[in-house]
Amino acid sequence: MPAPNIDTIVSLAKRRGFVFPSSEVYGGLGSAWDYGPLGVELCNNVKQAWWRWLVYDRDDVEGIDSSIILNRLVWKYSGHEATFNDWLVDCRNCKGRFRADKIVDNKCPSCSASDWTEARPFNTMLQTKLGAVAEDDPSALAYLRPETAQGIFINFLNVQTSMRRKLPFGIAQVGKSFRNEVTPGNFILRTREFEQMEMEYFVSPTAEHSKLVDYWVEQYLEWFSSLGLTRENLYLYEVPKEELAHYSKRTVDIMYRYFPEREKPWEELMGIAWRTDFDLSTHSKNKLDEEGKRINPDSTEDLSYFDEPTKQRFYPHVIEPAAGVNRTVLAVLMDAYSEKTNDKGETRVILKLSPQLAPIKAAILPLAKNKPEIVGMAKAIKRSLQPVLRAVYDDTGGIGKLYARQDEIGTPFCVTVDHQSLEDEAVTVRDRDTWEQERIKVSDLAEHLQKRLKPYPVTESV
Ligand code: GAP
Repeated sequence: MPAPNIDTIVSLAKRRGFVFPSSEVYGGLGSAWDYGPLGVELCNNVKQAWWRWLVYDRDDVEGIDSSIILNRLVWKYSGHEATFNDWLVDCRNCKGRFRADKIVDNKCPSCSASDWTEARPFNTMLQTKLGAVAEDDPSALAYLRPETAQGIFINFLNVQTSMRRKLPFGIAQVGKSFRNEVTPGNFILRTREFEQMEMEYFVSPTAEHSKLVDYWVEQYLEWFSSLGLTRENLYLYEVPKEELAHYSKRTVDIMYRYFPEREKPWEELMGIAWRTDFDLSTHSKNKLDEEGKRINPDSTEDLSYFDEPTKQRFYPHVIEPAAGVNRTVLAVLMDAYSEKTNDKGETRVILKLSPQLAPIKAAILPLAKNKPEIVGMAKAIKRSLQPVLRAVYDDTGGIGKLYARQDEIGTPFCVTVDHQSLEDEAVTVRDRDTWEQERIKVSDLAEHLQKRLKPYPVTESV
C-alpha cells in the first residue's frame, strides 16, 4: 500500500528528519524546503544510483559539472530568453494571479469568479546581477540556469575531443536548476529551486531517433523499478505536437501517481525528448539559416562533429532523458510507504525503501544501555561496519521503540546486542520488512549484511 496522499509523506518527512519547510523561523518561504539528516542521504543515494547506472555501468556516457551561471548569450540562443514563459492571468475580482493553462472551467481557484485579464507572458528564468554594478546596468544581468542541459551542449566539443569519443555517446550532469514558478506547490514536486539529473545522448542525424526515445523510456522504467517504484504507479504520456517545447520533435513523459486520491492522479516525473540538432547548431558560429545568414554571430565555436567513416561533418541530434531528483525522491517515498499491524494491534509505518537508497543500512542497538559491556560492544560493531556500509548506534529508547523508529525511516537491518552476545559473540539481525530475526556471529556480520544488500548495489561510500 503506497502513501494515500502527499500530505502523509510531508508529515513523516518532517517528523523523521527527511525534509523541513525552509526558513520556518521567519514564517517560511513559499515552496522552499530544506533536506534534513536523512533527506540529504536519500537524495545523495538517488543521485549516486543514477550516476553509477549511467556513467559507471555503461561505456558510452561521460559526466560533467558545469556552472550554474552561464554567459547570458547561452540563454539567448537556446531560446529561453524569448520562449521560457508561463502565461499569466489576473482575476479582476480577487486580484489573484494564476497560470492560464491551470485554470479549470474558466473559474478563479480562489474566488470562483470568471473575470480575467488578457493572458500575458512571464519569463520564468530567475535573474541575478554579476559584479559591483549599478542597479539598472543591463549588461550585468545574468540568469540562474533553468535546466542543466545547456551546460552540457556548450561543452559538447570539450568532452568529445578530450575523451576521444565517437558517436553515439552521452554526457550526464546532475545539479541545481532554478525557475521562477508562478504556482509552485505540492511539497517538493514543484519548487523554484530544484535538482535535475539530465543526460544528452548525441547521435547521428540519420539515427532512428524515435526508436531511441523508446529505448531510453524502457531504460528509465527499468531504473525506476530498481529504485522500488511499482510499474502501476507509472504511466507514459506521449506529448501532443502542439504541447512540444520549441526544440523537440518528440517527447514522452514518464508520469507518477503523485495524487492517488484525486481523479487526475498523474504528474510528470521526467521527460525523454528528441531535441534534434537544435541546441548544438544554435550555439555554433558556422550554422546558416535558410537565407544563408549565420544564425549565431556571437558564437566563437562550431559544435559540429566530423564522422570519420562517412567523412561527413554534421550537427549531432540529441535524445535527452531529463529527470528531477526531488520528484524521484518524492515518488520513492510514496511508493515505499506502508503500514503494518503488530501483535498488540498497533499500526506501524514501515518505509520499504530499496536498500541502496535507505539513508541508513544498519542500526546497532544495545538491549541494555546501562550495561557498559553491551554498549561498548554495540559501539565497536558500529565502528567496524561503518567502512563497508552506513551504520548508526542508537540507545535512545526501549528496543520496541528503536525498531519502530528504524522501520519508519527505512533502515533494512537492526542489529541487537544483548546479554548473551557477551558470551557467544553473536547478535540478532532483524529484517525491516518481515520482522524476522536471525542470530549471526559478530565475525560474520559484515559479510552477512553485505550479502543481503548485494542485489542492490551499495557503493563503499555510503
Ligand atoms: N532539459 C529539459 C528540461 O528541463 P523539464 O521537463 O522542464 O525538461 C525536467 O524538466 C525534469 O525536471 C522534470 O521532469 C521534473 O522532474 C524536474 N523539474 C522541472 N521543473 C521542476 C520544478 N519546478 N520543481 C521540481 N522539479 C522540477
